[in-house]
Amino acid sequence: MAKNPTESKIAKGTEEREKSAPDTGQPLLGRVSRRSFLSHIGAAGIAATTPVFASVSAPAPPDAKEAPPTDGVQGAVPVSLRINGREHNLKLDPRTTLLDCLRENLNMPGTKKGCDHGQCGACTVHVNGRRVNSCLTFAVMHSMDEITTIEGIGQPDHLHPMQAAFVEHDGYQCGYCTSGQIMSAVALLKEPVGPTDEDVKQAMYGNICRCGAYPNIIAAVQSARKQA
Ligand code: FES
Ligand code: FES
Repeated sequence: MAKNPTESKIAKGTEEREKSAPDTGQPLLGRVSRRSFLSHIGAAGIAATTPVFASVSAPAPPDAKEAPPTDGVQGAVPVSLRINGREHNLKLDPRTTLLDCLRENLNMPGTKKGCDHGQCGACTVHVNGRRVNSCLTFAVMHSMDEITTIEGIGQPDHLHPMQAAFVEHDGYQCGYCTSGQIMSAVALLKEPVGPTDEDVKQAMYGNICRCGAYPNIIAAVQSARKQA
């Protein structure tokens, strides 16, 4: 599709500045290029405006390259991670969080970064079936674990019942919190949570929705629980 004139101008200006920018020789962790920054902003914009299950559930392309952004970083260590049933061998700065590893090293943007401080739940994944805030744990701590992300829960053509319930009950607005909400809700199906809406609210209290879609989120979770 043809770019609009404003987008073309921005892209052209960015390319020209990229060409003239000096190569500092710094490793990528310490130096994010303007081009990659703009492409991330673009991806976030798309995620915010496309139907949520096309964006949060889309798998990384099968031939997606595992970027080696820590090459040359002092102290990088080899790590093997098993994610959604597939093994990934990486070299990581040991300070890399599981969230950053998923998004930056493995090109899996379905897991969202909200607060990056363990307060919003946008980054929720499963580690050995239990929900975990991936911004609060280091990737190197999980070499023996089974990690599941939203990409491993369901796909647009084969939704998990919880995803289908979120669609049916309009359990989202902008969709930014939705992958974390769904990961928490799926884990909740196996937790000893009481039957009432209040029980579900308590169990989901770690997942913040800035759009305030809570009534529909609760309805979706309760609907999926009845079918489970
Ligand atoms: Fe991890 Fe907010 S990004 S809890
Ligand atoms: Fe927008 Fe939850 S749907 S933050």
